[in-house]
Amino acid sequence: MSGPFQIVLLPGDGAGAEVMHQARRVLDRVAEAYGLQFDLEEIPCGGQYYLQYGRDWPEGSERRCAAADLILLGAVGWPDPDGGGPVTMKDGKMAGWNPVIGNRLRLDLYANIRPIKLYDGVGHRISGRQQQVWRPENVDMVFLRENTEDLYVGAGTILRPANIAQVATDTRIITRRASERIIRLAFQTANRRQGAPTDGKKRVTAVVKNNVLDGCRMFTEIFAEVAREFPEVEPDVAIVDAFTQWLITEPERYDVVVTTNMFGDIVTDLASVLQGGMGMAVGCNVGDQHGMFEPIHGTAPPFAGQDKLNPMAMIGALAEGLRWLGARRQVRELSAAASAVEGAIRDVVKAGDVLTFDLVGKDRAAPMSAVTDAILSRV
Ligand SMILES: NC(=O)c1ccc[n+]([C@@H]2O[C@H](COP(=O)([O-])OP(=O)(O)OC[C@H]3O[C@@H](n4cnc5c(N)ncnc54)[C@H](O)[C@@H]3O)[C@@H](O)[C@H]2O)c1
Repeated sequence: MSGPFQIVLLPGDGAGAEVMHQARRVLDRVAEAYGLQFDLEEIPCGGQYYLQYGRDWPEGSERRCAAADLILLGAVGWPDPDGGGPVTMKDGKMAGWNPVIGNRLRLDLYANIRPIKLYDGVGHRISGRQQQVWRPENVDMVFLRENTEDLYVGAGTILRPANIAQVATDTRIITRRASERIIRLAFQTANRRQGAPTDGKKRVTAVVKNNVLDGCRMFTEIFAEVAREFPEVEPDVAIVDAFTQWLITEPERYDVVVTTNMFGDIVTDLASVLQGGMGMAVGCNVGDQHGMFEPIHGTAPPFAGQDKLNPMAMIGALAEGLRWLGARRQVRELSAAASAVEGAIRDVVKAGDVLTFDLVGKDRAAPMSAVTDAILSRV
């Protein structure tokens, strides 16, 4: 028996809580199958929690997250009953800020790593129809998004003379330290990979707007400096607007992509389309000491609570979390469990008979819980 491993679960709101329940079922299964002992601690959080308790998670949650071996996050954010967007706290932050952005900052989870891999059998949902647009062998890349600064540091304000919002500012902070460590991690990641599908070249693409923004000019300079340490990896620079079209028309060219926080936030949602959409896309928030793993989707209020969303992004996030912890602690059973879960997802997609609406359309859709059952039967 290996462990115990302390795992904090942050289910959050709506779809977040729903997919977390499915991930918990998978955790129970791998614990049994691989002789792993998990101490699970579930911390309620998010917009609905705020509406009830006036804070977005219980007191002491910061400490519990800092003490965990692994953190799994569903998603947070819930529509305000007043109809004015997501529930917001008194300080103006979204209710759910603490578990997501707060954890990223406090635990220094500086790398947001988003693997984009297309599994055999995924039909892309385009204009309401499922069709295979990209070939699985052409989509296999990983994004590294800087996770602690940029426009998301919260250094902005709204000026409200006579109580009417007139001027808003958001300050973009880009530092050498944060840029350098995410870029170096990108090159190290490329070194371990097979290279881009199109030519087998190990390549890191920096996505920037260095023709306009000073933060991006500095990011590109640092990129060139770090690239010199990795002569076996090809450095590549793309301007973000052009990159969005190449990503879709030529995904086979990309291997590792590194970018600043907000560009990364946006382009990875686009990249998720290549792998079948939000229901398949995993986000790993990783630092030197801590790791928090999540689906990149949100709480999907119109779909939540109906047992119909795709649980694979959350279950895939769990697999990435187990793999990260296994490598960190040198525990083979954790790594084996991770591979088994990922393999099970891949098999279920390929079999194609038990999949949610986002992958097969409404008429052939299976419930979320049936997809998890199919995964469990293969783990
Ligand atoms: N990390 C987080 O916690 C996080 C991330 C993104 C959004 N949010 C929050 O979620 C709330 C809703 O945001 P949104 O509607 O813009 O984004 P969303 O990701 O919740 O939903 C957008 C669309 O993606 C699809 N989708 C999402 N999850 C899916 C799944 N598991 N399976 C299949 N399809 C899925 C649905 O079509 C959905 O309408 C907001 O309050 C937002 O702030 C939270």
